[in-house]
Amino acid sequence: MLASLVSADLRVRHVLPGKSTRSLGGDRYEANFQDADSLRSLHELLAGPHHAIVGCLINFLGLSDAVLSPTGSQAQAALETSLATFHLLKEFEADLDSSARQGGGLVLNLSGMGGSFGIDPGPTTGLAAAGTLGIIKTFRREYPKTTAKNVDVDPTLDFNLLSARIVQELTMDDGVIEVGLTRQGRQRLKLVHTEPTGVAPLSIGPESVVVVTGGAYGVTADVAIELARRTRCRMVLVGRSTLPDAEPAETASLDLAGLRQWSIKQAKAEGKKILPAEIEKSVQRTLRNRIILGSIDRFRTAGSNVEYHAVDARREDSFGKLLDDLYARFGRIDGVIHGAGVIDDKRIKDKSTESFTSVFSTKVDSAQILANHLRPDSLRFLVFFSSVSGRFGNAGQADYSAANEFLNKLADDLGKRWPARVASINWGPWDGGMVSDELRRLYAQVGYDLIPIDVGASYFCQEIALPPGTGAEVTVSGSVAKMADPTML
Ligand SMILES: NC(=O)c1ccc[n+]([C@@H]2O[C@H](COP(=O)([O-])OP(=O)(O)OC[C@H]3O[C@@H](n4cnc5c(N)ncnc54)[C@H](OP(=O)(O)O)[C@@H]3O)[C@@H](O)[C@H]2O)c1
Repeated sequence: MLASLVSADLRVRHVLPGKSTRSLGGDRYEANFQDADSLRSLHELLAGPHHAIVGCLINFLGLSDAVLSPTGSQAQAALETSLATFHLLKEFEADLDSSARQGGGLVLNLSGMGGSFGIDPGPTTGLAAAGTLGIIKTFRREYPKTTAKNVDVDPTLDFNLLSARIVQELTMDDGVIEVGLTRQGRQRLKLVHTEPTGVAPLSIGPESVVVVTGGAYGVTADVAIELARRTRCRMVLVGRSTLPDAEPAETASLDLAGLRQWSIKQAKAEGKKILPAEIEKSVQRTLRNRIILGSIDRFRTAGSNVEYHAVDARREDSFGKLLDDLYARFGRIDGVIHGAGVIDDKRIKDKSTESFTSVFSTKVDSAQILANHLRPDSLRFLVFFSSVSGRFGNAGQADYSAANEFLNKLADDLGKRWPARVASINWGPWDGGMVSDELRRLYAQVGYDLIPIDVGASYFCQEIALPPGTGAEVTVSGSVAKMADPTML
């Protein structure tokens, strides 16, 4: 591969993953991709006395699961590969951006999922690279002058042929951000529009057990309540918040403004200093508690038995144990809606490793725990709540895009192996949940249609009624063409 690149007239520096930064002689180096300081030293070494800039980055990490985490779990390998890719882009973003203005600025990110990004019927390999796909799509949105793309390869292709085609990709910018290289040639992903079919009868009933992460508030709760209404299944809700006590009568009828006034009065009466941030925190906590208790009431009104567990879905010792306990208590888990998610939007250059890890692991570690503990033979459906941010990338959301792409590819993998309906729904923005009023205004300005709660919930029920083996990656969004346009937002 390196020989093909050198013969293509490029000055190539080969950087291997190692413990720290050092030159190995010639144009070979080692660096610790998990360590921002190590990459900074690498950058200085590469720049040399003449301040050379890096005009092209080819990321092979996604082709080698074993390099990063020989003994770690799939989720850990995915985190390490994603973090390494994020750190590399963060370190070299200014070089790549300025090189782009002189005709360079190329980023080629390789994965080995078979050339179809995991979608074709064959086994989904190379899941450790899944997160990098979202990072690259986001990078391209944050640096629109660069040419960043994901190239997924069939790793069984003849090595020389593969090398030549990868070099070809470097010089080809036809706007395609996801390219597959297979025996059949160069492939691209295409979204195929399907008309809603209506909801077929669901094989879920009052005796069924459905686990819902993030089910106590947000759009996941709304969707699960609709499922409860249709099936009256037993609902097991999982969230980090502790189950609140019933709200005291004196605040129960107050709206936002009333709650603020009450909190200020309360602080004064207790002789406390009035700290606006503290007042707001307490008001928001009361509102959140109200929503959680309200959700639980809505599940009951819909006819479901409901239980809530204050459990962090990232933790194998508590979430994994809860799943095992449910099998012990009920002998079954029929369905899972995995809606737990957080965002912490910042551009790659401003984002910290901690923030990336937290957003990524909220979705990924928990999905991996589900994959490890669920018993596929008795499972009817498993749905991951993914996002258009994973499908298309989104400026400010490298971590969130990465996490959602992992969900997509894990769903591809499980959907091919499990006798249950497995889907990863790449939702566009809803009229609810994490879409704040500020975001709602922004979406209105650019003309994005939000998903009405009842419409999204009905699409969800349609998806889970589809037979096992149906394509796992689904996009449900208003304004899809705008979402797919990399120049938007
Ligand atoms: N709203 C949208 O427009 C939209 C669009 C695309 C995709 N989605 C996806 O849909 C899902 C729900 O989004 P939303 O808008 O409803 O978000 P939200 O209002 O912020 O709700 C997020 C939910 O996840 C739970 N959660 C977060 N971290 C958790 C953890 N470590 N363990 C267990 N539960 C956890 C939260 O409960 P606690 O705080 O109590 O833990 C909460 O119930 C997310 O996965 C999101 O990515 C939403």
